[in-house]
Amino acid sequence: MKKILITRKLLKENEEKLKELFEVILNPDDKIYSQEELIKKSKDCDGILSSVSDQINKDTISKLSAKIKIIANGAVGFGNIDIDAAKQKGIAVTNTPDVLTDATADIAILLLLGASRRALEGRIAAENQNWKWSFDFLLGKQMSNKTLGILGMGRIGRAVAKRARGFNMQIHYHNRKKLPNDLEEGAVFHKDVKSLFANSEFLSINCPANSETTKIVNEDTLKHLLPNCVVANSARGDIVDDEAMIKALKSKKVFAYGLDVYNGEPKIHPEYLKLKNIFLLPHLGSATKRTRWDMLYRATKNLEMFFNGEKPKDLVN
Ligand code: GLV
Repeated sequence: MKKILITRKLLKENEEKLKELFEVILNPDDKIYSQEELIKKSKDCDGILSSVSDQINKDTISKLSAKIKIIANGAVGFGNIDIDAAKQKGIAVTNTPDVLTDATADIAILLLLGASRRALEGRIAAENQNWKWSFDFLLGKQMSNKTLGILGMGRIGRAVAKRARGFNMQIHYHNRKKLPNDLEEGAVFHKDVKSLFANSEFLSINCPANSETTKIVNEDTLKHLLPNCVVANSARGDIVDDEAMIKALKSKKVFAYGLDVYNGEPKIHPEYLKLKNIFLLPHLGSATKRTRWDMLYRATKNLEMFFNGEKPKDLVN
């Protein structure tokens, strides 16, 4: 039986399935392993089932046992793994696309609405019993009938667009490549980010985190946004330059920012916590029971296929 290090506590049913297929090292206390711990715990293993909280960089990969042949990341994003270094060492990396598209797109809409309609301020006022209805109490920005810029029109970006059409929003997008018409469904393509920003009353960040997108939302690009734009990030913290965003929130260039993902998670830039025009969630994008089960099932399937000598369905390197 092949031996797998499972870095985080999984749903019980998924752990049971993995136990039938492999010899497993579980993590019942759900401790987040340091790179040293990960290297040590996986030393007799043939594979690793990892999560977004594991930073498996070039240095870690160079120190992993030569026995390890696959890292099945239990996430669609794989910016936490140096996939090129893994490939060079002969380690396959897989992710879990598709199954979390809807859950994440739902959260993107929640972020846009929560930020634009000042839901967090409202919750705090209600909780503190510190409010009374008035004509100018907590006035937000209406999302319906506005333009929505989508940065990254992959599966999740397109699912956000689909939902936003229900709000009668006009969709603009930036992607590395223009999509074919059937996938565009009337959305307007922008070859560069600045042009997208100049047409966005609302903006949803949905691109993967990689060397091309790191801090793509920065001081230089943010200044092109339409004034009072509402921004939501359901992708990755690294895509946004926090200092520039905080400045834009303070000057109200950005009306409000809804975010589910952070640079250096689970830490949150302390300035975000001081701002009112912010709507924060703790990385809940794929957090429904069904979605998490599906993601872990898919990661398990990738391990199973790999050790059966097949090409795993979701190989990314
Ligand atoms: C979650 O953030 C994922 O990438 O699956």
